[in-house]
Amino acid sequence: MMNTLKKGPLVLITAGPTREAIDPVRYISNHSSGKMGYAIAEAFLEQGCIVVLVSGPVGLTLVHQNLSIIQVQSADEMFAACLPYFESAQVVVFAAAVADYKPAEIFTYKMKKSANEFELKMVKNVDIAYEFGRVKRDDQIAVGFALETNNEEQNAVHKLYKKNFDLIVLNSTQDSGATFGFDTNKITIINKDLVFQSFPLQSKQEAGRDIVNTALKLAANHTPVTQHH
Ligand code: CTP
Repeated sequence: MMNTLKKGPLVLITAGPTREAIDPVRYISNHSSGKMGYAIAEAFLEQGCIVVLVSGPVGLTLVHQNLSIIQVQSADEMFAACLPYFESAQVVVFAAAVADYKPAEIFTYKMKKSANEFELKMVKNVDIAYEFGRVKRDDQIAVGFALETNNEEQNAVHKLYKKNFDLIVLNSTQDSGATFGFDTNKITIINKDLVFQSFPLQSKQEAGRDIVNTALKLAANHTPVTQHH
């Protein structure tokens, strides 16, 4: 066994993209497949954890007696679904690719085309990870992700502190075979002491296990351990 936790700590995971509605038939979204988040959920389940997976729209399924999947669309819905678990979760993993902005208003009726150009006003979405970081207790572990195209390590470390993560998983878009849509990922896990753990290009299942092992080791060093049934 990799960890010394009692069976059944509660883990909250966000996964997949969010969809931000423009009108009843259109939305803004991104290419997140949800594969990394679901692989992490599986790895926590293998370790006997109770998992709540708050998932944006993805083409994946996962069934387990210790797993609840809450399906959401928008960032606001994802945040609302997470809120009730913030206090009792021992580990929270933010694997979702949350849209940073949403349309300022959702049109009630389908927009008709008219002018050659049109402007869409966008407003900032809630930062779910940041909001958890503000209320996080010392006995809770927060794991975030950083997908960077340049200044990768510096940006990831900045995000770790800004969002009060205990660990941040960096995946670089410069690695071929990594990130969106792929079944493989090349990750570096960074902790608050700025220890960098780099892993080879591997399946998202394997990457998920590495992330979970690192998070559970950290959680085992924090007391008290809460039991959930
Ligand atoms: N995240 C979140 N809610 C958001 C945006 C991001 O929970 N509204 C989480 C992601 O799940 C990820 C981490 O925060 O774990 C980093 O997200 P990212 O979008 O890369 O960070 P930003 O702060 O938005 O930085 P930037 O867009 O400037 O790169």
